[in-house]
Amino acid sequence: MPTATQLDHKAYIPIAHPGDDVKALFKQYGAVRLHDFKFDTASFDKFVSGFNETTLTDYSGGYLGKTGRPKTSTNTFEASNVPPNFYFPPHNDLSYFYEQGRMPGIILFCCLTPALKGGYTPLFNAHHAFKLLPDDIVKRIKGRKLSYVWTIPREGIAGRMKVLPTSWKSFFGTDDPDEVAKLVQDLKFSRHEYLYLGGEGVSKDEPSHLRLYMDGPMVTQHPTSGKDIIFINLGQSPEARKHFAKHYASDEAYQSVIEGSREFLTLDAPYVEWADTHEPIEADVMEAIISAYERSRLDWGWSQPSESIIFDNFLFAHGRDTFEGPRSVITSFGNIGDHKMPGPDCVAFTTTSTAA
Ligand SMILES: [Fe+2]
Repeated sequence: MPTATQLDHKAYIPIAHPGDDVKALFKQYGAVRLHDFKFDTASFDKFVSGFNETTLTDYSGGYLGKTGRPKTSTNTFEASNVPPNFYFPPHNDLSYFYEQGRMPGIILFCCLTPALKGGYTPLFNAHHAFKLLPDDIVKRIKGRKLSYVWTIPREGIAGRMKVLPTSWKSFFGTDDPDEVAKLVQDLKFSRHEYLYLGGEGVSKDEPSHLRLYMDGPMVTQHPTSGKDIIFINLGQSPEARKHFAKHYASDEAYQSVIEGSREFLTLDAPYVEWADTHEPIEADVMEAIISAYERSRLDWGWSQPSESIIFDNFLFAHGRDTFEGPRSVITSFGNIGDHKMPGPDCVAFTTTSTAA
């Protein structure tokens, strides 16, 4: 039974078996689990290339600079490999690039090796979460843009977040400021600035850090249905990490999460700020959003070898539970009809849960 702080995943995510019309179920629910397909990397790759109308195959070369996720086949990538004791908060993959039209509409995951304990990939219904926001919060945030702020040092730091940049070089494949500036422009970041803080081997006459800004909406409308969805990406948010780590991890893991956040946020810059004022997002706004997401959580779990899930990257934010033991999940990103599904009749837009 779902608790008072989560939704009943069975009402929102159907299970398809071989022979079922997976696309029809996806259209109706916005998410579908696949059982008994007996996927390996090659057959999952074949499945996703048939399911998507377009598949994003250049993630590692064009989305997060030069070093992105390792490819596991033509159309699949290694899923996020952040450390096992991190609870990864709700986020829509690549939502930083929404305004540049580079955010995938669909995410597909296949779990090749389930963890011994935990390691789930919870979904969070972003429309349901929006509906839970108090009216006064909605008035303050709807229509406003925020900036995602990344501060990357020139010299590498010994980060544990393997998929995240630890230096200009690991991010862009060069530490030359001019080449970096061109790549920043090519990747359409909203703006960037250099910081001159000095440091080991860096004089104060040359830039020590690069700060990147990517603007996006706090709340937006689903591309097909037009319904409101919370859109802020909480993936690296210290507030969200703190909240979810407290809920799901041991004290030791929680401390590790906080240290990990410091590694990534190498300076005191906020991870997100309002784009218009450059002020931090107010604490009560962050609390309301995190709480709304928490109450819109779908805690389904990987339950059989090679289980897969397909979901709408706009309608559902996703996270990753902490885990023990080995775990292998591969992922693919695609679009169907330029985000034209699922539509207004999608169950995930309309189902009301008694537990909500
Ligand atoms: Fe993700």
